[in-house]
Amino acid sequence: MRILHLSDTHLTRGAGPNHYGVDPAESLRLMLRDCGELRDLDAVLVTGDVADDGSSTAYAQAKHLIGAFARDRGIPAIFTTGNHDERGAFAEVLGSGHEQPVDEMTSAEGERAAVSMIGGYRLVTLDSLIPGKVYGRITATQLAWLRGVLAEPAPDGTVVAFHHPPVMVPGVKAQEWAGLQNGDELAAVMAGTDVRLVLCGHFHLQLYGTLAGVPVWATPGVVTRIDLTAPLSTVRAVKGASASLIDLGGPHSPVLHTLHARDPEMGRTAYEADVEGSAISPPDR
Ligand SMILES: [Fe+2]
Repeated sequence: MRILHLSDTHLTRGAGPNHYGVDPAESLRLMLRDCGELRDLDAVLVTGDVADDGSSTAYAQAKHLIGAFARDRGIPAIFTTGNHDERGAFAEVLGSGHEQPVDEMTSAEGERAAVSMIGGYRLVTLDSLIPGKVYGRITATQLAWLRGVLAEPAPDGTVVAFHHPPVMVPGVKAQEWAGLQNGDELAAVMAGTDVRLVLCGHFHLQLYGTLAGVPVWATPGVVTRIDLTAPLSTVRAVKGASASLIDLGGPHSPVLHTLHARDPEMGRTAYEADVEGSAISPPDR
């Protein structure tokens, strides 16, 4: 199975560059243009922060641009929510995020989780959004539902996708504070199941780690990439869209590869902010 993994498109209701001089829609168009030669894709997956402003207009634009790319290839486009997303507007335009879910759940709080079958693989999306918070959590309601889903193995295995990575680069405070806060609880649910890979976004950089032995991959952002060559006290975002190509089922599975759009602005600083003074702060547990 081959997935084009996108994340953090941060689309807005307005057109043109945002206050950092980055045009999110143009970044997405460039990325999709440069993915035009990819072959044998089975799905496009977007792991959250689809919209920057939670507007219906932004979701409609995501559906239009990414949906067209997927439709041209006869494959599904699958979306899940991030901390910038707004559940109501997301659901209004994208529903569960799956075009043909074989299973789904909506909690009393409006969290959406769903399952698509892609060939013999089961693709499960979870909702790690906590309204008003930068960090994320998979609630007990979703973990209980996931335990039920994973009780029966899929023919070729399962991929679990959500926004906030449960793995972090040691010493990077912005990641510790902004990542998934209950990776241990998720690990306990995945233990002994057929989960082959966890896919995330949110950190705007490519990052590999493991969670209780399961490979975890965070794909860089479409809108910007976070540059960890910056001093640890700052968060530096640079221009240039990136995406990931995910291959499962081959002899070296999972094979994870980062693709960069050919953007002449790539690598130029979009913004650099002090971590302590940014929107990222230690979670209130
Ligand atoms: Fe995010």
